[in-house]
Amino acid sequence: MTEILTARPEWHALTAHYQQIKELHLRQLFAADPKRGERLALEVQGLYCDYSKHRITDETLALLIRLAEACGLPQRIEAMFRGDQINLTEGRSVLHVALRAPRESSLTVDGVDVIAEVQTVLDKMAVFATRVRSGAWTGHTGKPIRNVVNLGIGGSDLGPAMAYEALRHYSKRELTFRFVSNIDATDFVEATCDLDPAETLFIVASKTFTTLETMTNAQCARRWLLAAMHDEASVAKHFVAVSTNATEVARFGIDPQNMFGFWDWVGGRYSLTSAIGLSLMLAIGAERFGELLAGCHGMDEHFRRAPLPRNMPVIMGLLNVWYGNFFGTETVAVLPYDQYLRRFPAYLQQLVMESNGKRTTLQGLPVTYQTGPIVWGEPGTSGQHSFYQLLHQGTKLVPCDFIGLVSPLNPLGEHHKLLMANLLAQAEALAFGKTADEVATEGIPSYLVPHRTFDGNRPSTVLLANRLTPAVLGQLIALYEHSVLVASVIWEINAFDQWGVELGKVLAKQIAAELASSAEPQHDSSTNALIRRYRNGGRP
Ligand code: F6P
Repeated sequence: MTEILTARPEWHALTAHYQQIKELHLRQLFAADPKRGERLALEVQGLYCDYSKHRITDETLALLIRLAEACGLPQRIEAMFRGDQINLTEGRSVLHVALRAPRESSLTVDGVDVIAEVQTVLDKMAVFATRVRSGAWTGHTGKPIRNVVNLGIGGSDLGPAMAYEALRHYSKRELTFRFVSNIDATDFVEATCDLDPAETLFIVASKTFTTLETMTNAQCARRWLLAAMHDEASVAKHFVAVSTNATEVARFGIDPQNMFGFWDWVGGRYSLTSAIGLSLMLAIGAERFGELLAGCHGMDEHFRRAPLPRNMPVIMGLLNVWYGNFFGTETVAVLPYDQYLRRFPAYLQQLVMESNGKRTTLQGLPVTYQTGPIVWGEPGTSGQHSFYQLLHQGTKLVPCDFIGLVSPLNPLGEHHKLLMANLLAQAEALAFGKTADEVATEGIPSYLVPHRTFDGNRPSTVLLANRLTPAVLGQLIALYEHSVLVASVIWEINAFDQWGVELGKVLAKQIAAELASSAEPQHDSSTNALIRRYRNGGRP
């Protein structure tokens, strides 16, 4: 039986160490080591990670690494890459890293070379993407496709939607892309109201092909198409599927030729680099999609091979543990200073919170410590004029991840310099603040001094790359994916299941039937009253 986390000597050492350094200010840490800003940083294939503005010392890092070793992190990393069934509660391997492994490599799992299978699907996607992008693939009436609508939810939506936005600069502008996820009809109606069905391709993206939201939207899309085409045969030209469930895809009426498969060893929130990324490939082309995969692979290799103290996802994952478990922080803000990355925080919400929002250990025991953080954020500088007040002077400690790019994709006047100046200024202000003495020497009236003082000592990471390319996006994706695994190993939880979404799904099915019936609802008095009010047109 594995030792309980909080009983480990390495945990006790960290608890004692926290007591010693918790009051230490970043001002002191920087003053004591003039090279700290360069020393506590890592670079992986051009992606620079500055973690010097964290409330850590060399000893903190050493103790965190010792904890990671005691928890078997190196072995767990290797087990994932080897294809072991580390998703214990679902009895599955976790092999999103195989999706971006080089073509010439091989990995045999249960007698099957999964890399060869991955490459076959990638080739099929590339052929299809090229046909659509060139106009060779036509709709039922012979018109080329001009609109692509991805119907999916969760990992079958957030990854492609985020990456499409992130890489829009590289996209084929003659094509329009829309992403419909919500079961609220407004999502579908607003996404399609200005589209010509004869020029529209739907990608039904669903690992299981049974998800209520996606299947409801897919049926709706089918009716929308047929209302214009009046011919069942048109479905074959206007629908493709991305799924692991060939039977359900065929039942829906999609030609199996037009199905792009993946495997149960790809978790939904880890699936962007599988065929779930088809919409992205249609937008940016197969070659650039390959660059995204290469970026992921570079980070995968770094994660697998770099020693723990120089391993970027390891450091980032352990910092999550340090703040969540010792400082008692509950959230992490992700602040991309790039408008193209505006959906990155939303994407990370699923990645981090669906993965590590768990309260039961791999041994089936309740945890006695905090696990995954709440992730939130908005692009800078818009966020600065909204919630940064709390980050600087609020009572809550919120570790921040700043993401910036040196070279803009849209060079225009002074914009980029000002954007990046703001990123650097925010990280500096959070870390070092402004003392009451400094405020007073500016001649500020004494009654205002406390209001205008910044205590600082608010930690942040700065991630910096040269330009937002597909490869850089791939690096960022893999970096966060692996940092999630790192934290989960320490917390002894399964980052790859999501049982917590099941209860709501079951109840919704039952309630949907009750909303349409007149029988007495079978719930608590609150839910029953709400059901009756709904049935009664909003009246009691
Ligand atoms: O929200 C639960 C979940 O299972 C996610 O993990 C997944 O990404 C999403 O639903 C969509 O699932 P599917 O791709 O099977 O439609």
